[in-house]
Amino acid sequence: MPASTGGIIGGGPRPCNSGLPGNEPLTKAEAVLNSPHFPLLETTLSGPRPLIAGNWKMNAGDAAGIALARAVIEGAGSETLGCDLLLCPPAVILAEVARLAGGSAAAVGGQDCHAEDAGAHTGDLSAIMLREAGASFVIVGHSERRAGHGETDAMVRAKAEAAHRAGLTAIVCIGETEGERAAGKTLDVLAHQVGGSVPAGAGAADTVIAYEPVWAIGSGRTPSPGEVAEAHAHIRARLAGRVDSAAEVRILYGGSVKPDNAGAILALGDVNGALIGGASLDAAAFLAIARLCR
Ligand code: PGA
Repeated sequence: MPASTGGIIGGGPRPCNSGLPGNEPLTKAEAVLNSPHFPLLETTLSGPRPLIAGNWKMNAGDAAGIALARAVIEGAGSETLGCDLLLCPPAVILAEVARLAGGSAAAVGGQDCHAEDAGAHTGDLSAIMLREAGASFVIVGHSERRAGHGETDAMVRAKAEAAHRAGLTAIVCIGETEGERAAGKTLDVLAHQVGGSVPAGAGAADTVIAYEPVWAIGSGRTPSPGEVAEAHAHIRARLAGRVDSAAEVRILYGGSVKPDNAGAILALGDVNGALIGGASLDAAAFLAIARLCR
């Protein structure tokens, strides 16, 4: 785990109105991009600053979620952590969590977005809406959405592109099923998912990859450290031909990360943080994992 020092690799409003003549008004997406809370991401001499992200899934969308966010934000408040923190609460409390997180070390993200910016899509949320509610990240292509909502690589890529248009960092999730691992197809599956799900032209400033073996999510099982390291190195290599500054793209591990196994995982090369489900619902456990990044 690299120590944190270093310059800025991403963030800052992108020059979204270059090419526009004169005083033409900004579009909504451009106005959002120019807003002040676009995240500044640091890098280190030896790699990107780790990101510890909590995916609350369909839990804690009420007062308990507000209390959880407060506990994480206040718990981290007096410390200098060696990582960035991200909370991905249910959308119904995202704006309130973002207000609580304002000025703190924690960023806020959505758990999914639609591929289009607006329109007749009952029940969906656009990336722009998430951004306006205070998000700076959005998870796309989580295996629960791929499996439960039939999301394909092409759909995931379109969502990541929507996130980028809105000025959000897309956390693109990939990972093999248990059957694919048993059949020796893990690396092929990951290569295929990187090629299909990550927008061409993506880079470290707007894209994070989360490697989440489907069979490890919520199961209490994890790949061996060697298997995690092999997968991450393979993902990095596949990114190299596809995105800008592949060495700086954060590749998170996700799947049954807990305080007692996180240290070994976070110490691996090419592991730049974690996407945490169950353990992110416990502020003490979530912060214990984050402290391992010191
Ligand atoms: P888990 O979930 O930590 O509960 O395994 C991880 C995820 O689905 O992102």
